[in-house]
Amino acid sequence: MGPRVTRRHVVQQILRGRSKEPVREQGIGRAPVNIALCKYWGKRDAELNLPRNSSLSVTLPGMEVEMRVEVSGEGRDEVVLEDNRLPQDEAAFQRVVEYLDLFRGAKGLRFRVESRSAVPPAAGLASSAAAFAALVRALDALFGWELTPRELSILARLGSGSACRSIFQGAVVWQAGRRRDGMDSFARPLNIVWPEFRMGLVLISTAEKAVGSRPGMNHTVETSPLYSRWPAVAEQDLQRMLAALEGRDMGALGGLAESNALCMHATMIAARPPLLYWEPKTVSAMKRVWAMRQEGRRVYFTIDAGPNLKLIYPVEEARVVREVFGEVREFAPLTESASCS
Ligand code: DP6
Repeated sequence: MGPRVTRRHVVQQILRGRSKEPVREQGIGRAPVNIALCKYWGKRDAELNLPRNSSLSVTLPGMEVEMRVEVSGEGRDEVVLEDNRLPQDEAAFQRVVEYLDLFRGAKGLRFRVESRSAVPPAAGLASSAAAFAALVRALDALFGWELTPRELSILARLGSGSACRSIFQGAVVWQAGRRRDGMDSFARPLNIVWPEFRMGLVLISTAEKAVGSRPGMNHTVETSPLYSRWPAVAEQDLQRMLAALEGRDMGALGGLAESNALCMHATMIAARPPLLYWEPKTVSAMKRVWAMRQEGRRVYFTIDAGPNLKLIYPVEEARVVREVFGEVREFAPLTESASCS
């Protein structure tokens, strides 16, 4: 075992020989929200956000975050979300500032970061993955680095693990990798075109969750007696999901995504103390999905570290999904224009 690899080492390695000075007034970057079908849950390295298992997601077309970065005229960092300046004691402010610490160079540059999101707060979607991916793209533009998508993905991962997937569009795999420096842990797009594939958001609650996914996954790894099974289950699910995607097999893909999400939640529920993100309405929505399947409908769900469900179904089921769930916000993540970057 050599010395521990830090985020700073990784950044130095990627930016070696590249500009330390901004090449333009302002850098602008955009990136979409992604929803995992095979979940990232648990880290082998918390500093570098290196996962214990590979994962698979789809991006939601139109659900983008835009970031603008410039050198601050005020000599200190400013983070402005939708025209609201974040107070310095806010966790989100500190997370962005710690990330910016990696890019200040010898001059100790301070930045002004402005974020705008097309993700309505009422959609119940966490947009931090999109935000870090957009921020990396904005920094790349500001400094004129012209990084490759793979390098952008690695840098985005240092901000939030799932952000490495938001560098790409459509169906995206994040390979866990084995290296200690994480240079083999990045996402890649699968370029799967499957116009019939739908994801529908069932909103249960938009209240901020008590435990975020970062502390939630760390607590699960540390205390859940069921966690040790998870990485192997997820790797196997992923291989089967890739085959189902390749074969455009909705039944196989939806079923695997649903059981993968439930398996992740089982590890959390078994944590000590337990971690349960579900509300009573979450459970009744799950039961409605299962009742639909009993009637032969090809409707499945996935669920992240929160109470809201994301339905997975082919377009033929869209009408009945609306009948059962009312207005769901529906996405077609794998149409040609949505899935090719
Ligand atoms: C349940 O990427 O938010 O959404 O790496 O600590 O920032 P950090 O965690 P984060 O975790 C996402 C967890 C998940 C599953 C997934 O998106 O794969």
